[in-house]
Amino acid sequence: MIVVTGASGHLGRLVIDSLLDRVTPEAVVAAVRTPEKVDDLAARGVVVRRLDYDEPATARAALAGAERVLLISASEVGRRVPQHAAVIDAAAAEGVAQFAYTSILHADRNPIVLAAEHRATESLIHDAGLPATLLRNGWYLENYTENLAPAIEHGTIVGSAGAGRVAAAGRADFAAAAAAVLTTEGHAGASYELAGHAFTMAELAAVLSDVLGREITYTDLPPVAHRDMLLSAGLPAAFAELLVDADRNVAAGNLFETTSDLEALLGRSPATLETALRAVLASAHAN
Ligand SMILES: NC(=O)c1ccc[n+]([C@@H]2O[C@H](COP(=O)([O-])OP(=O)(O)OC[C@H]3O[C@@H](n4cnc5c(N)ncnc54)[C@H](OP(=O)(O)O)[C@@H]3O)[C@@H](O)[C@H]2O)c1
Repeated sequence: MIVVTGASGHLGRLVIDSLLDRVTPEAVVAAVRTPEKVDDLAARGVVVRRLDYDEPATARAALAGAERVLLISASEVGRRVPQHAAVIDAAAAEGVAQFAYTSILHADRNPIVLAAEHRATESLIHDAGLPATLLRNGWYLENYTENLAPAIEHGTIVGSAGAGRVAAAGRADFAAAAAAVLTTEGHAGASYELAGHAFTMAELAAVLSDVLGREITYTDLPPVAHRDMLLSAGLPAAFAELLVDADRNVAAGNLFETTSDLEALLGRSPATLETALRAVLASAHAN
């Protein structure tokens, strides 16, 4: 039995889809905070159990009988370590054969603010003695392919990432890699740096221009000006800080990687930025 947490989220749903290509639905548990959100998965035969990271007893119940567990990192920044600990403790009590965790690229040394909770979680997994597989996911392509409206409206993408390269990949590819790890042998103790095809923000603007058939530029701002622009656009201060910190780390090369770990797990090349942009714009056009 394979338990996937966060299965109602974007990545979780894609992991379940990929698992269903490989195993029968009765072997898959969608562990979710709100079971009604995944009635469609139940209708496909997936086992649905309630798991709220803030209620450790639900983690123990949701992991009963689990052989393999995928902990998809939680979404409330600042609260994630105790939330993840609830699932790690439940997996250790259950004696699972494999515990996979969606971490961040270079979690052990990445200075990006978001890496601190991933680093702490990886330590908890290690200390619990779990047979672990660390899926250190790079940035999602969707961070760049969704919410394009302001760039299209103003003809420019604004950021503070300089000429840094980001090795982003699509959620569907990270999900397929996770499903491969959960359904094949030889991944215990492995730590994968999962990276896609790298691009700079200027290259992002060039590819978007090509796909749209009109020029979109990249405007690079100093970090303080970038933060002020995000605040004036109405973003909450904490979120604006995280975005500026992310760009600072793209600029410094901390979200760049050249390993072929993702390609090896997929058995093919990950989707490119251009493919992803064409798909998003085709779907927007169709709707
Ligand atoms: N690499 C990247 O670029 C990147 C970008 C964004 C996020 N992330 C990380 O990757 C994770 C998955 O991404 P995503 O796109 O799938 O995020 P998402 O769509 O926001 O999904 C988050 C999932 O976490 C669940 N969740 C939140 N709080 C919970 C709680 N207390 N108990 C149980 N479940 C809870 C949500 O459940 P509900 O449906 O009940 O809300 C949802 O299923 C994120 O949570 C974040 O840690 C990575």
